[in-house]
Amino acid sequence: MPEPEVPPHAPILELATGSVMGRALFAVTELGVPDLLADGPVATAELAEKTDTEPSSLSRVLRTLAGAGYFRSLGDRYALTDLGRTLVTGHPTAARELVLSLLGPAFTDSMQRLSDTLRTGRTGVDLVYGLPVFDYFARHPDEGASFNRTMIAFHGTEPAAVARAWDLTDAEHLVDVGGGVGTLLRAVLEKVPATRGTLFDRPDVIGQADLGDAHDRCRTESGDFFTSVPHGGDVYLLSHIVHDWKDEEAHTILSNCRRAMTDGGRLVLVEMVLPPGDDDHPGKFLDLVMLALTGGRERTESQYRELLAAAGFDLVRVVPTDSAVSIIEAVPSTST
Ligand SMILES: C[S@@+](CC[C@H](N)C(=O)[O-])C[C@H]1O[C@@H](n2cnc3c(N)ncnc32)[C@H](O)[C@@H]1O
Repeated sequence: MPEPEVPPHAPILELATGSVMGRALFAVTELGVPDLLADGPVATAELAEKTDTEPSSLSRVLRTLAGAGYFRSLGDRYALTDLGRTLVTGHPTAARELVLSLLGPAFTDSMQRLSDTLRTGRTGVDLVYGLPVFDYFARHPDEGASFNRTMIAFHGTEPAAVARAWDLTDAEHLVDVGGGVGTLLRAVLEKVPATRGTLFDRPDVIGQADLGDAHDRCRTESGDFFTSVPHGGDVYLLSHIVHDWKDEEAHTILSNCRRAMTDGGRLVLVEMVLPPGDDDHPGKFLDLVMLALTGGRERTESQYRELLAAAGFDLVRVVPTDSAVSIIEAVPSTST
């Protein structure tokens, strides 16, 4: 059979129709279908009964998602494929939370307002809900918890890649500023058994911390990094923090780290450093998410250098990792 002709607007077609599949995946995930299939195939009628849906409509959605590789039909029953299994609650990829967050109302409604963001300079979250994104999560704790798990799914292999690329052997006390639930801190401390850690984040997030085996050499502290950060560390780690904020706000956070660190301290940012030119890069996608959600931005190496210099740091080096993020290392400026 001849190959179908690829129309010149094929990528646009794919993008525009992809959102329908996204809605279908969100619906079945929100309804809990992957969890109902976790122990084996289940008849569509039973799935419909348990999810309070109309059987023939549900089977049409499942049939389409089966074509996309999420489910497998076995007569009148459905089963999970390996891909579909990642959507079960508690799967280590946190793919379920990724779907519920990035295809959920807060994210989609905010991205929906991108044209208004471009016109007004206000984030989509502000336009839709009238408050900054992290305050939104504090007021909607279930969505906040889901967002924290989404970070695990979104950043996937990053913590291990950062731990591999980063020589931390001489660190005594690592402070993870805005460290979320502690996924990265846990990964990097695994490599340095003598190093202590402090996980610092907002009170609504720090309660969900999971430091695993590192918990006996770590403490947690809650607070606001615009006011101060924990004192006395020799390494301050900020992973995906600076990109959440505009330059003035980032300057305040970095200056608070500068004040808090011991003499001879180091600052380490983990961020996607934007390459020059038009090549595709995950940081360019994330930059749009920052524009719409937080009001922050992804930056180039020279933008990081300038931002760090203004807060009293010299950028020493940028170390690539075998993931999309780089490690940006800085020390207090000798000139200040
Ligand atoms: C994009 S997440 C990054 C989390 C983690 N560092 C990572 O790399 O996955 C940003 C983090 O900053 C925290 N945060 C936001 N505003 C904060 C504030 N004012 N003080 C302390 N932490 C804050 C959030 O709660 C969230 O955990």
